[in-house]
Amino acid sequence: MTEPLRIGLAGLGTVGAGVARLLAANADLIAARAGREVRVVAVSARDRAKDRGVDLAGLAWEEDPVALAGRADVDLLVEAMGGESGPAKAATEAALARGAHVVTANKALLAHHGAALAAAAERAGAELRFEAAVAGGIPCVKALGEGLAGNRVARVMGVLNGTCNYILTRMEAEGLAYADVLADAQRLGYAEADPSFDVGGTDAAHKLALLAALAFGTRVDFDGVMTEGIDKLSLADIAHAAELGFRIKLLGVARMQGEALEQRMRPCLVPAASPFGKLEGVTNMVVVEGDAVGRIVMEGPGAGGGPTASAIVADVIDIARGAHSPAFGVPAALLRAAPRAESGAPAAYYIRLALADRPGALGRVAAALGAVGVSIHRMVQSADEAEGGEATVLIVTHETTRERLDSALAVVAASDVSMGAPVAIRIEPV
Ligand code: NAP
Ligand code: HSE
Repeated sequence: MTEPLRIGLAGLGTVGAGVARLLAANADLIAARAGREVRVVAVSARDRAKDRGVDLAGLAWEEDPVALAGRADVDLLVEAMGGESGPAKAATEAALARGAHVVTANKALLAHHGAALAAAAERAGAELRFEAAVAGGIPCVKALGEGLAGNRVARVMGVLNGTCNYILTRMEAEGLAYADVLADAQRLGYAEADPSFDVGGTDAAHKLALLAALAFGTRVDFDGVMTEGIDKLSLADIAHAAELGFRIKLLGVARMQGEALEQRMRPCLVPAASPFGKLEGVTNMVVVEGDAVGRIVMEGPGAGGGPTASAIVADVIDIARGAHSPAFGVPAALLRAAPRAESGAPAAYYIRLALADRPGALGRVAAALGAVGVSIHRMVQSADEAEGGEATVLIVTHETTRERLDSALAVVAASDVSMGAPVAIRIEPV
C-alpha cells in the first residue's frame, strides 16, 4: 500500500464527529477500497472540553482551523464547521492555496463562493469535493458529475432539506405547528446552526444552486433562486391539499428556458401518489431528467451524522484513489453565467379563499379569474366552515402563470367578498 492519506478534520459536531466515527468503524474496509490507509491526524473545534463521543486520543488539536488547514502533515481538509464565510472559507482557501484537498459539507460556502473555490482548487492541482453538501447521504453530486455526465439535462428537481420534510410530515400526521416540531429536528441533528436557514428555504436553495451548476454547466447563482420557506405554511393548507389528493413539499426545480436559468425553491403541491408525494420524514429526493437516460430518481436520508459522513467519506476515498475531476463537472472557467429566467414555467395552482358566504361571491371570484384567462379545474366549498357568514373555498386552476393568478387574486382580495388574504400554491407537474 502507498502512504496513508492524512486528514485534518475541522468541526466535530454532528457531521465532523460522524466522519471520525465512520473512519474509525470502517477503517479496514475504507483502506481496502481507497488503496491506502485513511488516517485523521489533527482536528479543530471551539470547545476542547466537550465530549464528542469519539476517541480523539493521539490526534493533534488546533484552536484555529486555518492553522489546521496549513499543517504540513494534513493532505486533505474535511471542513465540517459551516458558515458561508468566516473560518470555513478561510480554512478552505488556506488548504487549497497550498495544494491540499478539501472535502466539505458546507453548501452555504459553495453557494456563495463555489466558482472561486473551484478555480482555486484547479490552480493548485487540488480536489474540491462536496457530495455531503447536497441531499445528505444521496450520491447525487457524483451521479450528475459522473454517472450522468453524457446527458443533456432538461430538469433537475429535489426535496433537499431534511428538516423541512421532517417538519411537514409531522405537521400533516399529527396536526402540529411547524415551531412545535422544529425542536425535535434540532435535537436529532438535522437542522442548521441557524434553523431559519432550513425553514426559510435558504439551505435548500443553496443546494439547488449547486445542483443546477452541475446539471447545466452554469455558474452557481444562489441569488437567482426564487426562494420561499415553509414557515408561512398553515396547517389548514396542508390538510386541504391532502383532501384534494396532494401533499405539500418544499420542492426545488431548476431548468433551462432557452439560454436562461430558472431556479425555484418553494412549497409546492405534488400528487400524493407521486414519488415526491410519498416522501416521509428526513428523507430527500433528487430527480434528474436527461436526454439519453430519461428520468433518474434518487432517494435517501437527507441529514444527520451517519448519512452525511457516508457522503464525505466517499469523497475522501475518491481522492485517496487519486481521482481528479473539476468540482462542478467542467473547469471553473467554462461555467457559463446564464441570465435568470424572468418567471417560472406555467402550472396549475391551488387557491384557498375565505369568502363572505352570500349570493354572488363565487361569481366575483370566477369573473376575476376569467378576466385574466385563468380557468377553474376544480372547486370545493367546505360546508362545515360555511357557518358564521364565511366560507372556505378551494380552487384548483388549469395551467396558468403566477403573474396572471396574482393579478386576479389582487382583485379578489380588494373586493368586499374577501374575508382574508387569498393563498396560492403552485402544483408542480412531477
Ligand atoms: P454543528 O453540529 O453545529 O458542528 C459545527 C462544528 O464546527 C462544531 O464542532 C464546532 O465546534 C465547530 N466550529 C464552529 N466554528 C468553529 C471555529 N471557529 N473554529 C473551530 N471549530 C468551529 O454543525 P453540523 O450539523 O455538524 O454541520 C456542519 C456542516 O455540515 C455545515 O456546513 C452544515 O450545513 C453541513 N451539513 C450538516 C448536515 C447535518 O445533517 N447536520 C448535513 C449535511 C451538511 P464546537 O463543537 O466546539 O462548538
Ligand atoms: N439542515 C440540513 C437539512 C442538513 O435539514 O437538510 C443537511 O444538509
